[in-house]
Amino acid sequence: MGSLIAVDLFDLSGKTALVTGGNGGIGLGMAEGLASRGANLVVLGRNPEKSAAAALKIRDEYKVETLAVSADVSVEADVARAVDEALARFDAINILINNAGINIRKPADQMTLDEWHTVMNVNLTSAFMMSKAVYPSMKNAGGGKVINIGSMTSIFGAGFAPAYATSKGGIVQLTKSQALAWAVDNIQVNAILPGWFDTDLTKRARQEIAGMHERVLSRIAAGRWGTPADIAGTAIWLASPASNYVTGIAIAVDGGYTAML
Ligand SMILES: NC(=O)c1ccc[n+]([C@@H]2O[C@H](COP(=O)([O-])OP(=O)(O)OC[C@H]3O[C@@H](n4cnc5c(N)ncnc54)[C@H](OP(=O)(O)O)[C@@H]3O)[C@@H](O)[C@H]2O)c1
Repeated sequence: MGSLIAVDLFDLSGKTALVTGGNGGIGLGMAEGLASRGANLVVLGRNPEKSAAAALKIRDEYKVETLAVSADVSVEADVARAVDEALARFDAINILINNAGINIRKPADQMTLDEWHTVMNVNLTSAFMMSKAVYPSMKNAGGGKVINIGSMTSIFGAGFAPAYATSKGGIVQLTKSQALAWAVDNIQVNAILPGWFDTDLTKRARQEIAGMHERVLSRIAAGRWGTPADIAGTAIWLASPASNYVTGIAIAVDGGYTAML
């Protein structure tokens, strides 16, 4: 009788992952996680120097192939070009992480329609467009993994950031809908809901909102804010054969924030 587990469940060698916003913060943490298990990496961001530096770092530290692509994920033509560039270099995109995101902090009565659309387009519509553009490649390869990045505001409201919270709530429903449509293609689609991580995004929030750092910290059971390395393991799991029977879920990586009353 053969063994139950015949392969390294977390092995990503020979796979190619595209991470939007993979040049810094949480995205870079996940990109490094996938590279540590052997995946080649396409690092997509708006800032070419930042993306080139991240691609170089990943290539040198993890000895995998990398490519930096400059694109705005909220622009349809950029999305198409970015995926074309990735597929000109690699045979397929096996793993897609829709991570690029922004926030504009204003209550609903002060936010302009332009600001609303900007946040929705970068955080939510981008995930729809990127996944749709990558789907044929995954399907042809016999399957794949899509990981959409939500937030604690996928669960809770945010009076100071209505567009952000709405976009992140939408990420969960998009995830379920894609998971149902693409299960037949052996594509698993899941969401990660990060708790509070120390990145450029939250550095700004902590500067803009008095007392936020302490208020948040008092609710994190782990007793500290997360670092990009804290999210790598969950990304590896959801990108690897270890999660082949897991689809349409949203998993919080939050040091116990959502468990706290
Ligand atoms: N930090 C947290 O506590 C936290 C919590 C929950 C969820 N999240 C989510 O995690 C994701 C990453 O956030 P982060 O904290 O790591 O923030 P970050 O350090 O500010 O990184 C944001 C990333 O998104 C990229 N990006 C932004 N707009 C883009 C666009 N239009 N087109 C292409 N790339 C774009 C940026 O690249 P460039 O600099 O090159 O533009 C950057 O790599 C976001 O979706 C965020 O909502 C973060």
